[in-house]
Amino acid sequence: MEYFPCLFILAFSMRAIIVAFVAISLGGSAYALENGLVRTPPMGWLAWQRFRCITNCTLYPDDCISDKLFRTMADLLVSEGYAAVGYNYINIDDCWLSKERGPDGRLQADPERFPYGIKDLAAYVHSKGLNFGIYEDFGNFTCAGYPGVIDNLKLDAETFASWDVDYIKLDGCYAELEQMETGYPEFGLYMNQTGRPMVYSCSWPAYQTEQGIDPNYAVLAEHCNLWRNYDDIQDSYASLRHIIDYFGQKQDNMTPHAGPGHWNDPDMLLIGNYGLSYDQSRMQMAIWAILAAPLFMSVDLRTIRPEHKEILQNTRIIAVNQDPLGIQGQIVYNTSKIEIWTRKITPVQGDQYSYAIAVVSRRDDGYPYRVQVPLRDAGLTNPLGYLVQDLYGDTTENLLLPDDLIDVRVNPSGVVFWRANIVTDVPSVTTIY
Ligand code: GLA
Repeated sequence: MEYFPCLFILAFSMRAIIVAFVAISLGGSAYALENGLVRTPPMGWLAWQRFRCITNCTLYPDDCISDKLFRTMADLLVSEGYAAVGYNYINIDDCWLSKERGPDGRLQADPERFPYGIKDLAAYVHSKGLNFGIYEDFGNFTCAGYPGVIDNLKLDAETFASWDVDYIKLDGCYAELEQMETGYPEFGLYMNQTGRPMVYSCSWPAYQTEQGIDPNYAVLAEHCNLWRNYDDIQDSYASLRHIIDYFGQKQDNMTPHAGPGHWNDPDMLLIGNYGLSYDQSRMQMAIWAILAAPLFMSVDLRTIRPEHKEILQNTRIIAVNQDPLGIQGQIVYNTSKIEIWTRKITPVQGDQYSYAIAVVSRRDDGYPYRVQVPLRDAGLTNPLGYLVQDLYGDTTENLLLPDDLIDVRVNPSGVVFWRANIVTDVPSVTTIY
């Protein structure tokens, strides 16, 4: 009889283990990504926005989607200082494939534009200390009409691993919406089974929102490292605003699911291309930092202007984007075409956070508009105040208390971007940096 309680506990524990195991298997967690990657949003260079599907290398030898383009951009990422500030992925997008699979059924690169194959290109990118990303599509075809993965999920995941790929963007053209919520996790499972950790960028929510369906972000965060929420960004201020507005409108659904290892993706940075003014470029960089967005430049690094390079390489703004807490920011004030976006960042004490604060103007009356809003109205309530620094200005810090004003002038369609570090009553012992 003495042993009865022990046996009972043992039997109970066994049962608990079995129940837990079955629950995990059925609950879909067996597919969970858990690859330990991208604890902060990924940063790098992605071909699509600037180079699209240019495949005629005779006409456009320097612009076509080819081995040469990616090697050149990898070289420049390092030599021009981008890698040193964190941009460490070189990612291919659409139009790299041959129209036919090989005789073994495997995907193959276009033999003329990628004469050494993808594994060789990946090795070159790795030799520069960078990571290598690739693009495919869950459906029958990629958006530009190259072979998709749908009938070869396992084989294609294995092929990518065998090429030493570090990151896969899986698009959703030519696919049934109904198949995506199971099909994308299935591909993720095969990625995991290869044993090679690869970042998984999913596009299925962008296809759901297109049909008016609100994505299930909890499921996405379980299966994907990042996901494209919405429409493609195009090279214009109108497109940029369209995406920012969507992220503002849907923020309560979206932001709780961002965090280390899983991110909302508003799409590429336009900075340095044709469509944005200087002020709009600074505004995109600030909002992408507030949103904890992946920072993928898509620009010709051979010809980018110094002022755009300076925006992209602003280390104080990159530090906001890469803040270790990984909390996505929100719009907290919207009056007279002036928006205030804030993001909680380190250092933290107790329940008091530091903040990034972006004051964004959507005004077009052509003068720098004066904004005066108490810090408290933007949610900054720490009684001891904040040391405030202008992230596009010099590094001077000013002490502001909650009832002091954010008192700034913002250029039309521009931004003023601040970092406000909390002042604490105890030295940094209890402060998390
Ligand atoms: C879709 C994606 C884009 C890009 C293109 C390529 O539109 O959303 O980001 O990858 O396909 O064809």
